Amino acid sequence: MIALPEDLATLRWIGGVDGYLDLIDQTRLPTEFVRVVCRDVETVWEAIKSLRVRGAPAIGVAAAYGVCLGLQPVASATPEAFLERLDYVIDYLGSSRPTAVNLFWAMERLRRVAQKRSGRRSPGALLADLLAEARLIHEEDRQMCRAIGEHGAALLADGQGVLTHCNAGALATADYGTALAVIYTAVESGKKVHVYADETRPLLQGARLTAWELQQRGVPVTLICDNMAAQVMREGRVQAVVVGADRIAANGDVANKIGTYGLAVLAAAHDIPFYVAAPTSTFDLAIASGEAIPIEQRDPREITHGFGRQTAPDGVSVYNPAFDVTPARLIKALICERGVIQPVTAERIAAVVSA
Ligand code: MRU
Repeated sequence: MIALPEDLATLRWIGGVDGYLDLIDQTRLPTEFVRVVCRDVETVWEAIKSLRVRGAPAIGVAAAYGVCLGLQPVASATPEAFLERLDYVIDYLGSSRPTAVNLFWAMERLRRVAQKRSGRRSPGALLADLLAEARLIHEEDRQMCRAIGEHGAALLADGQGVLTHCNAGALATADYGTALAVIYTAVESGKKVHVYADETRPLLQGARLTAWELQQRGVPVTLICDNMAAQVMREGRVQAVVVGADRIAANGDVANKIGTYGLAVLAAAHDIPFYVAAPTSTFDLAIASGEAIPIEQRDPREITHGFGRQTAPDGVSVYNPAFDVTPARLIKALICERGVIQPVTAERIAAVVSA
């Protein structure tokens, strides 16, 4: 077992306006606990692209700090040069990963702050304002995890088996997660919950991150390969499925890690409730349905050469979408920091999210 430092924070901003971002390198877990220091926006872009930091809320926080890093070199420039650089940095970071809307949501918050105050504040003062906004996004993310946990825990009963996919836990957020917050809060309230974690092909976030994180926190967890979920359900081992989300359309369709849709179909076939836990920052009400959610396509080598070993013949054609879309009709409830949205309809979502 690796030795762990006390501070397990997924992301930390160290110092003031001339400070830097440091984050857990999630590509190295579970065998090594290493932090990456990001002193420029290019390092943040690479960290997001290569999944050193991943999970929709954590990507949003990283991008907000990344914008501040990208603006440090123009803190003493003209206001025009500062705002021009802001637009460039937002576009640049936005090119890292397309699906998680939190990335864009966080950066748009920073852009709005800059636009509102640009006539009155010097670039240096504006940078301080943007860092304050990034810190606020970070803090709100912590509170959102706790609130999601509180709302969602009531949906789980004592003694249940719960299946989860990918990692929607502490590593994916500023506190203890979205889907896993539901489980942690249920456990804290005295319920016994046994988690089944899908390993989550091809990058194994379930095996490397969720299984690790649950072990660290003492929550009973059994790891399964993705293709075992149907059998596990048929054997009556799970009574609920809880997953996170990368983007939720206005009608409740959910984009999440590839394999989520299949689990929802299986859950429906076994009459098992399928829950999605996500903050309001993951809802994209500008998108009518899941059809319009951009799905990230990733390097075929993640499938043919995963973790350094070739497992497919040279030259084979590969399709590697990183996310899929689960239709709203398969989702029993959405759990956000403002409460439980059930049934999952456009009207209920609009009432809660745009309130
Ligand atoms: O490719 P990843 O690891 O960033 O995918 C992450 C997921 O799909 C999570 O379930 C989602 O971002 C929610 S994290 C609270």
